[in-house]
Amino acid sequence: MTDPATEISAWQRRVEAGLEKYLPGEHCVPATLHRAMRYSALAGGKRFRPLLVYATGKTLDLEPERLDPIAVAIELIHAYSLIHDDLPAMDDDDLRRGRPTCHRAFDEATAILAGDALQALAFDVLARDLPTAASKNGLAVIHEIAQACGSGGMAGGQALDLGAVGRQLGEAELRNMHRLKTGALIRASVTTPCLLAGADAATLRHASVFGECVGLAFQIYDDILDVAGNSAVTGKSTQADAALDKPTFVSILGMDESHKEARDLRDQAIRCLEHMPGDTTTLAWLADYVVSRDR
Ligand code: IPE
Ligand code: IPE
Ligand code: MG
Ligand code: MG
Ligand code: MG
Repeated sequence: MTDPATEISAWQRRVEAGLEKYLPGEHCVPATLHRAMRYSALAGGKRFRPLLVYATGKTLDLEPERLDPIAVAIELIHAYSLIHDDLPAMDDDDLRRGRPTCHRAFDEATAILAGDALQALAFDVLARDLPTAASKNGLAVIHEIAQACGSGGMAGGQALDLGAVGRQLGEAELRNMHRLKTGALIRASVTTPCLLAGADAATLRHASVFGECVGLAFQIYDDILDVAGNSAVTGKSTQADAALDKPTFVSILGMDESHKEARDLRDQAIRCLEHMPGDTTTLAWLADYVVSRDR
């Protein structure tokens, strides 16, 4: 059995190489747009979603090579979502991954276009290189990713987030907002390898619940780090949610209850793994990482 930490650094290197392979070169015209795309996508995030892709694939005996297009596509969509999330019209943030946000390093119009182009590139990568892209399983993967980032997923959750500014949300509404804005893409990082492998319905269902729990826990812990994290470690400004009067788990349930909720979701996620085939050690490690990380 491979040690999760060793596996994780190998997969992180793998996704870096994949991003480098697919992103247009910085001298390619229009150079400013390509520089902005590279600036944001290669800026050194945790690569948590690609790690879930590879770790889920491992439980299903899928070779990492077959998963590269999914891992890269999901990370490109994530990078796009961060660029737009930071824009003045959204969270108006100046710091991301320890550096000026895309619209600060470039300008707003370039940041909007870089986000647009990263999203398009994600589907370009899938159409080009997903094994059997035109097969039933390949199309199911593409469909799942499109759903996860559209108005029924990340973009929809972001709309709810913006609509919630200055309002007190009920717990169910808050949960739904988090489930969509962050949970959907995380869940898709777990379900897409299952769809590619043509996994049976029970495996897909357990993977989906695992992804839901991890996704919700991830955003709850992001809310916790916004209050209790160290900006030098998270690479983002802290207390940003309160400054914008955003409802978060911490503002609504309090710090202790938010920690408890995140840990309960981790436990629920880990219980799902009992019903999944193969070696799920790394998936369990990643679920635990969500609620013990400092960035
Ligand atoms: C931050 O995501 C935004 C959320 C969806 C909560 P990450 O915490 O995965 O950010 P990076 O990719 O590591 O920078
Ligand atoms: C981000 O939520 C959700 C996205 C889909 C990008 P946040 O707005 O809390 O993420 P951070 O804290 O800026 O990374
Ligand atoms: Mg936001
Ligand atoms: Mg934000
Ligand atoms: Mg946040």
